Amino acid sequence: MKGIILSGGYGTRLLPLTKVTSKQLLPVYDKPMIMYPLEILLKAGIKDILIIVAPDHAGDYLKLLGSGKQYGARFAYEIQDKPEGLAHAFIIGENFIDSNNVAMILGDNIFEDDMSETIRNFRSGGHIFAKKVPDPERFGVVKFDENMNAVKIEEKPKEYLSDYAITGLYLYDNRVVEAAKQAKPSARGELEITELHNWYLAKGELKVDIVKGEWIDAGTFETLYKATQLARKKSGLMKS
Ligand code: G1P
Repeated sequence: MKGIILSGGYGTRLLPLTKVTSKQLLPVYDKPMIMYPLEILLKAGIKDILIIVAPDHAGDYLKLLGSGKQYGARFAYEIQDKPEGLAHAFIIGENFIDSNNVAMILGDNIFEDDMSETIRNFRSGGHIFAKKVPDPERFGVVKFDENMNAVKIEEKPKEYLSDYAITGLYLYDNRVVEAAKQAKPSARGELEITELHNWYLAKGELKVDIVKGEWIDAGTFETLYKATQLARKKSGLMKS
């Protein structure tokens, strides 16, 4: 299985911090944000990782992460010139993915749970992870039936759909490249990852698990602060 960390975007909600570096390189307690999703992939035994970055601070990533040798892995880098959407990452990464399955994680997502076993056990189809949140309209949202089977998925629904946000860890088999190529840009001009979930859902091949521990998309000042608190808790310095 190959890994992709998507670390693009302008991080405008974190200005002026993101004037000097990329959002995903900002400190979250004792290390840059991207180290958390990176550790998830490394812990799952993924050795080939493509890091997709925005052009502005691309050099900073190389400085931080290098070739990957010190982690026993190989890192490759690609530039996403404009924020063309999460699904676009699979088009950028087509050659890298080759004929493998792929785990993609967002560079600003922090998980409390250990996801490594689930990633290791992935074989085919699509497998995504949802979490109950107070502000689902900010995310991709999944609605479940009474047996907790996913029935509907929508990106940032205008009308209430459910409280379950889809987190930024996505496991897909090799067909995801084909699905991404079929996706059409949304109203915000991006290839939405929800289209890919729906592609697998329509085939009855999408598994949606609930994340038990905390999950944070650290893209705002409030959530960046929460991410720092979670990281501090995880590091064992604060037991509450
Ligand atoms: C993206 C996805 C959304 C997902 C979220 C998780 O949103 O489009 O489905 O719930 O990441 O962090 P964006 O950060 O592009 O607004």
